Order: sequence, then C-alpha cells, then structure tokens
Amino acid sequence: MTALAQDTAHPVLEARGVTMVFGGLTALNDVSLRLDRGKIVGLIGPNGAGKTTFFNCLTGLYTPTKGTVLLSGRRLAPDPSEVTIAGVARTFQNIRLFPNMTVLENVLVGRHCRMRQGPIASLLHGPSFRREENAAKQRSRELLAFVGLASAEDEIARNLPYGDQRRLEIARALATDPKVLLLDEPTAGMNPQETEAARQLIFAIRDTGVSVVVIEHDIKFIFGLCDSVSVLVQGELLVEGRPEVVRADPRVIEAYLGKPPEEIESETRGAAEQDKREKP
Ligand SMILES: Nc1ncnc2c1ncn2[C@@H]1O[C@H](COP(=O)(O)OP(=O)(O)O)[C@@H](O)[C@H]1O
Ligand SMILES: [Mg+2]
Repeated sequence: MTALAQDTAHPVLEARGVTMVFGGLTALNDVSLRLDRGKIVGLIGPNGAGKTTFFNCLTGLYTPTKGTVLLSGRRLAPDPSEVTIAGVARTFQNIRLFPNMTVLENVLVGRHCRMRQGPIASLLHGPSFRREENAAKQRSRELLAFVGLASAEDEIARNLPYGDQRRLEIARALATDPKVLLLDEPTAGMNPQETEAARQLIFAIRDTGVSVVVIEHDIKFIFGLCDSVSVLVQGELLVEGRPEVVRADPRVIEAYLGKPPEEIESETRGAAEQDKREKP
C-alpha cells in the first residue's frame, strides 16, 4: 500500500478514550474524537468542561492519563514540538504571540520548524541559508495576505487590534504547514463583523486542505461552520453529530443549552467578552 493510500484510510486526527486526571479532578473522561480530512469539527461545552485540556492533550502539552492520539493512523508522541513537526498546529484561548516582535517575525517563528538550515548555517549566513530565509519570508508574507494582514508586517505585534492579533496567531500556526489546525475560541472578544470574517477565514483554511477543530462559546458560529459538533460537559462527551442533530438533541438542550439558542448565544458572547477583559 502506498503512503497516500494508507493516509486516506484513516481519519486525519483521532483521539481514542482520552482521560486526563489532575490530582483528584478528572478533567476529561474517556473522550474520543474523529476528524476526517477536509472537515471542520466543533467542540462546545460550558466553561470548565475540559475543552482546552483536550487541546492540550492533542498537542502534547499534557500527557493524557489514559488514551491515545493518532495523526493519519500513527500514534502521536505527547511532545509539543514533535506534534508540530507531525502536522498539528494550534492557537490559544489567551493569545500567545511574541508581543515585542513584528508581525512578520511572529509568522517566521512558526515557519522555523520547517527550515532545514541548522544553527551553524544561520551563523555563517551562507547562500543556502539566505535562500531558505528568503523563501520563509515569502511564505510568511503569503500567509499574512491570506489572513488579511498584508499591510501590517512591520507593526509590533502588541500594537495590533485584538482581532488582528488572533488572525496573526492563525497565520503563525499555518506557517508550520499543518495538516490539522486546532483553534481555541478564535472569535472570543470579536465584534460581529470580525466574527464573520473569522468564519470565512476558517472556511478558506479548510479549502486549502487543512482540517480544523474549533472550540467556541458562540454556538451560532459553531453550528454555521462545522460539519460535525461534539459537546463536552464536565469532561464527558455528551453528544456528537451533525450540527442540526446536536442542536435538536434534548440532552444538549437540557445539559448545555437549557434555554432557547438565541438567549444562550447572547449570554456566551457576553462571557467571552468578559474573558477578554479579564485576560487582556
Ligand atoms: N494544569 C491543570 N492543573 C489542574 N487542573 C487543571 C489544569 N488544566 C485544567 N484544569 C482543570 O480542568 C478543568 C477543565 O478546564 P479547561 O480545559 O480549561 O475547560 P474549558 O476550556 O472547557 O473551559 C477545569 O476544572 C480546570 O480547572
Ligand atoms: Mg478553554
């Protein structure tokens, strides 16, 4: 079997029975998730449900107490840099940029893991180093244009408006050439126009062949974006399925929604904005 044939036989990302225990707290209990190639999967659930912890388990930041994570059918070692090299990139709920570096430099940092020239070459600044450096800059500029930040490359990251910082973080993640992109609350703190732009950007990312998992508070956003939605409540996977099925599921309405979707939506958006104010 060729590598490609093998590749298409598996979901691009799969978590099997992931359990994460912190001291006496079971933050995740036997959570499984399947992401097929070219799909967008949503992960929703109340604050403290374990969503970010799940991303941390997928990306090797945490070593799950139990369970495995597979990329194209191969087990991923719980090591953040190996996970990045293997092709999983992420953004963070609380933006993590290099605040004093320029916009372009932030994207170049993401690109670094794909550069072949080692530290000696970079010290010597030989021609092959310069060639690779130029290619990295070109790719980074393409990505900045892709996320709508072409004119901001020389700005200092911390001076960017909040929504642009989120887009920069996405560009940096894309610079690692991922197969899978994990977005942790990408629209938290955004206004409706920025949120819609973010939705279009995620579709555009999917259209380039990157598969996406999105954590979001804004359930209208999730239901209008995802091929499939998983609902996490107190560390347990409550329901998963197509958005229209999940939305109508009585267990979801009771355990998570509890109220008409419009009401939840405005509440969760308020909570996200409060999050932003608490963690600037
Ligand atoms: N490193 C950690 N040590 C101890 N408890 C943690 C740690 N990370 C997360 N938790 C706990 O796990 C639970 C889930 O948190 P989190 O994954 O951040 O939820 P969500 O992203 O769904 O809001 C919370 O009770 C949180 O306090
Ligand atoms: Mg979280």
